[in-house]
Amino acid sequence: MCRPDIFSIIDFAKRQGLEVTINTNAINLTEHVVEKLIGLNVDQVCVSLDGATPEVNDAVRGHGTFNKILTNLNKLVRLIKEKKSPMTTGLAFTMLRMNMHQLTDMFKLAVEIGVDAIDFMELYVSGNAYDNLDKYEFQYTREEAIYSLEMFAQYLRKNRGKFRRITVQLDSHVSLAKYLNRRYGAGIFFHGRNMDCRAGDEMWYMQADGILSPCGICNNPLYNMKVLRNGCYILERIKITEASLQNVEDSNYFRSFLEFKKKSKEKLRKSCTNCEHNNYCAPCPILHYDDEVIEECEAVRNRIKEFVSEMLTRKPQIAGDARWRASDEQIEVWDKSWTTWRKVEGMGVDIIKNILLQNENKTIKEIANMICMNYSPAKKDAVEEDVAYFMWDLYLAGYVKFV
Ligand SMILES: C[S@@+](CC[C@H](N)C(=O)[O-])C[C@H]1O[C@@H](n2cnc3c(N)ncnc32)[C@H](O)[C@@H]1O
Ligand code: SF4
Ligand code: SF4
Repeated sequence: MCRPDIFSIIDFAKRQGLEVTINTNAINLTEHVVEKLIGLNVDQVCVSLDGATPEVNDAVRGHGTFNKILTNLNKLVRLIKEKKSPMTTGLAFTMLRMNMHQLTDMFKLAVEIGVDAIDFMELYVSGNAYDNLDKYEFQYTREEAIYSLEMFAQYLRKNRGKFRRITVQLDSHVSLAKYLNRRYGAGIFFHGRNMDCRAGDEMWYMQADGILSPCGICNNPLYNMKVLRNGCYILERIKITEASLQNVEDSNYFRSFLEFKKKSKEKLRKSCTNCEHNNYCAPCPILHYDDEVIEECEAVRNRIKEFVSEMLTRKPQIAGDARWRASDEQIEVWDKSWTTWRKVEGMGVDIIKNILLQNENKTIKEIANMICMNYSPAKKDAVEEDVAYFMWDLYLAGYVKFV
């Protein structure tokens, strides 16, 4: 947004049929700029905000930026409405130790402003974050992140119905996003790129000076030292104005990177071997080059273990106002007013018909043992986890209570 020719670049890109999205700090989003962006049919504008209050945001983004960002963002949302533009808007929030307590407040602020999406992003230790790592405590521990996100997910579960229109996105490991959705029904969206690297084939990255790379970290010495030293791929300086698209595809850099990526995907890490997500997930080949265990996913696994072992001691019973309609193969579980329902099949039918509806006073562990004998004796842990989640789901929906 500092370039005087930005509008010609956007215009050119749009005329090529490209989708144009802009990530900006919003400082330059004057009324004139916003009107131009709307006129050029920019598809999305995403604004960075790193705190829900001036104190927190301004400590990261600079003094006075909170008010400026909010003024400009409100203006953007207002003009989009006035001009009936299809442009969408988003807020980008980079999670840091100093703002992790504001996840819910950030969400409320995003709803209040009226943006279409809010994106919670993980910190990359680069740029100012790298230079100031010792000065400020930017980096949170895995446990801190999970705890804060769980608090936020609980808020979402209770209030999500009121705010269906806004997309909540988490740019983190797939295991974490899936856990939050399964455990809390948080309805968090996570992008395909969190599971499968797109660099070099579906995505190319161009720096402001025209230098091309598969992605922004492939040519960043903060991250690539070790992989380059081990000859995993070959770095080249390719400038967009000096190479044809074919040259780029055929370059040693792009070809060797794609080969490295393929090999990394084939080499399953220890923590991925038994992971339920491993058929569609592949951790970053560069950031996790050395890792046998993906620390982030291990922290989630530990959290799931804690949850399951706590659930196993509980005794579920049918809640007073739950409604059921049972046939041999399936059960319909209705809400109090008989308006919404869900279908339960397979082992769930057994649990409900033979245990819960018979009023048997069993712990979830005992129920899981019975199911395990009938279905898959060899998979005790997996069955315990499944039954615990199944009961938790029914509990959240108000169909069972724990005594
Ligand atoms: C490439 S950027 C920057 C766009 C714009 N210049 C700005 O400052 O907001 C896109 C997003 O990455 C975020 N970001 C910047 N540094 C980051 C870091 N070290 N780790 C994670 N996200 C970061 C920004 O907050 C922004 O929302
Ligand atoms: S453990 Fe591996 S496969 Fe599972 S979510 Fe994490 S990175 Fe993906
Ligand atoms: S190399 Fe890593 S950071 Fe780059 S796009 Fe792939 S997964 Fe993302």
